[in-house]
Amino acid sequence: MSTLESILKETRSFPPSDDFRHKATVSGMEAYNALCEQANSQYLSFWEKLAREQISWKQPFTRVLDDSQAPFFKWFDDGVLNVSYNCLDRHLATQSDKTAIIFEADDGEVSRVSYAELHRRVCRFANGLKSLGVKKGDRVVVYMPMGVEAVVTMQACARIGAIHSVVFGGFSAGAVRDRVQDAGATVVVTSNEGMRGGKSVPLKATVDEALALEGAESVQKVVVHQRTSGQVAWDASRDIWWHELIASQPESCEPEWMNAEDPLFILYTSGSTGKPKGIQHSSAGYLLGAINSFRWVFDFKPDDVYWCTADVGWITGHSYVCYGPLGNGATQVIFEGVPTYPDASRFWRMIEQHKVSIFYTAPTAIRSLIKLGADLPKQFDLSSLRVLGTVGEPINPEAWIWYYETVGGGRCPIVDTWWQTETGSAMIAPLPGAVPTKPGSCTLPLPGIMADIVDESGAQVEPGRGGFLVIKKPFPSLVRTIWNDPERFKKTYFPEEFNGQYYLAGDSANRDENGYFWIMGRIDDVLNVSGHRLGTMEIESALVANPLVAEAAVVGKPHDVKGEAVVAFVVLKGARPVGEEAKKVAAELKNWVAHEIGKIAQPDDIRFGENLPKTRSGKIMRRLLRSIAKGEEITQDTSTLENPQILAQLQQPL
Ligand code: WTA
Repeated sequence: MSTLESILKETRSFPPSDDFRHKATVSGMEAYNALCEQANSQYLSFWEKLAREQISWKQPFTRVLDDSQAPFFKWFDDGVLNVSYNCLDRHLATQSDKTAIIFEADDGEVSRVSYAELHRRVCRFANGLKSLGVKKGDRVVVYMPMGVEAVVTMQACARIGAIHSVVFGGFSAGAVRDRVQDAGATVVVTSNEGMRGGKSVPLKATVDEALALEGAESVQKVVVHQRTSGQVAWDASRDIWWHELIASQPESCEPEWMNAEDPLFILYTSGSTGKPKGIQHSSAGYLLGAINSFRWVFDFKPDDVYWCTADVGWITGHSYVCYGPLGNGATQVIFEGVPTYPDASRFWRMIEQHKVSIFYTAPTAIRSLIKLGADLPKQFDLSSLRVLGTVGEPINPEAWIWYYETVGGGRCPIVDTWWQTETGSAMIAPLPGAVPTKPGSCTLPLPGIMADIVDESGAQVEPGRGGFLVIKKPFPSLVRTIWNDPERFKKTYFPEEFNGQYYLAGDSANRDENGYFWIMGRIDDVLNVSGHRLGTMEIESALVANPLVAEAAVVGKPHDVKGEAVVAFVVLKGARPVGEEAKKVAAELKNWVAHEIGKIAQPDDIRFGENLPKTRSGKIMRRLLRSIAKGEEITQDTSTLENPQILAQLQQPL
C-alpha cells in the first residue's frame, strides 16, 4: 500500500521546456489533442494514413480493418510488404553509410555497423538459413546473447518469412525445450557462449541439454555463432557454425514478400495459468506500432543516438531494439553486458562516450544504480541526453526524481511507457514535447489508443477509483492470437464479461482528475520481478516437479530493487524440515527453480509448512500468504481456515 499511497499523493507535474516543445515532432498539447481528435472521429483513416506514410509497401492495401472474425482482427490484410526491407533496404539509398549499430561488448570493445553492412550481414545469414531449408512460416528459435548477431538473426528470419521466437538467454534448458516444442521449431540459432559481467554464459550447452529432452524432436539444425573461444560439444549431424554457414553466401537476398497478416514472430510470456503463452504478432500492424510509437514517444530525430538497454529476449528488445529503431533508420547502441560491470558507472560512462541522446531503461536498473552510486552520474558528461524512458513496471516517484535530476540534469522529459508483450508497442506514455509528466504516472494514451478503466460490468470508473485497464478498440500492433491456442487467446484477452469487446490487459489502474493513468499492478497471478513477467503457476509447477516437494504456493513481496521478489511456501513429501536441514533443502529448491526456469524465477525466500492455509473448500488462501510474505501481522479473518496452526509455521523464517 505504501507505494500506492505515495503515488496517489504525487502532484508534481513537469511540462517540457519551451525549447524541447518547439523542436518536437508533436509539439504542445494542442497538437497532441488534435491527433487524438482525428483518431476519435476518423479511427480507420487515422491508422490508414499512418500505415501508408510509415511503411514501404510492395503492394498497398485496400482494406484497413477486417473485424468480421473479432477478436481475431486483421489490419491492412491485402497489403504486401517485407519487414526487413522496411528496416534495411529502404534506408540504403539515402543513408547507407549511417551507423545502424554501435555495439559495445561486455569487455568494453566497441564496433560499428553501418546500414549497408547490416544489410549485407542480414542477407548473407538469410541465405544461410535458406540453404538449411528454412522457408516461409517455419519457426526459428533464437537463444543468443545481446549483440549484432541476435538482431541479424531476427531480421534474417523476417527477410525470408520465417517466424522467430527469441528465448531470453537467462532461461534454462527446460524453458527452451517448452518453447521449441510449442513452436515446433526446426532450427535453433545460438552462440557458443555469451559474456555478461566478465563471466561466460554457456548457451550452446543449454541448447544441447534442451534438445536432449523429450519434446524437442522437431529441431533439425543448430546454428552456432562463435562469440568466445570457449569449447563446446558438437553433434556434426545437427550443429553448424555460423561462419561456415555464411562463408559462401551471396550478399544480397530478395525479400520474401509477405502478407500484412503473416506472422512476424512468436514471443512467449507468462500468464496466470499453465505454460507460457506464445504471443503471435503480425507483420504490418506490428511494424507500424513499433515505427510510429518510436517516433512519437521518443520524439526521434535522425541525428539521435538511441540506447535501449533491454535484451532482445523480451518484447522491449523486439520493438525498441530490433524493429522500431531500424524501421526509422536510427543509430542505436547495443550493449552486451550488465550495468554493474566493471562498476556501477558503466551506463553513465557509455552515455558520455557514445553521446547518447535517448536512453530507455527499466525502473529496476535505475533503483539498483541509485543504491550502488547515486552520485556516480555526476562524474560524467551526460549533456548529450535529451529524452529518458522507462518500461516494465511502475517507477516510484523517488527513483523518477533521481532519474530526472541526476541523470537528465532536469532537462530531459521522462517517458514512462506502459505496454505489454501483447500490445507490441507503447500504449500509454507521454509524447515528450506535449504531455507534462508526473512522477509515477505513465500519463496519457497515445493517439489512437482507446485505453480506459472499467469495473466488472465494463462501466467506466470514476477518477481516483481503481479498475481494470482495458483498450476499447483494436489497434494495429495488438497480439493476433496465442500460438496453437486461439481459445485461450479469446478467453484471456477478450473475456465474455465485457461482451468480448474490450482488450483486457490484466493490469489494474486508476486515473486522476487530469485523466492521467496510474498503473497499480496485475490482476492475475503474474509477478513482476525486475520488470520480467513470471507466472506464479510456472514457479509452483517447477517446485512440485522436484521429488521432495508435495505442494507449493508462490506469491510476490515488495522488494526495493527488483520491485517484486518471489516467495515460495512449500510442503514436502516427508517431514517438515527445521533448522539446518530446512536451510539445506531451501538452497536445493532455489537451485532447482533456477535450473527448471532460470535464475530470474528463483525464490528469495522459502518457508516450509506441514500444509498450506486453505479454505474448507480447499482453496489456497493467497491473500494470507502475501501478508505472511510481507511479514505483516495477520488481521484477516482466518475462521474459514481449515488448519490455523500452520500459519505459525509459515511465518517462521529459516
Ligand atoms: C507492467 C513489457 C507500470 C504491466 C513492455 C504490464 C508497467 C506488464 C509498465 C507487461 C509501466 C510494463 N508502468 N507497469 N510503464 N510497463 N508494465 O509483457 O504490469 O514484459 O502488464 O511487457 O509489465 O510486461 P511485458
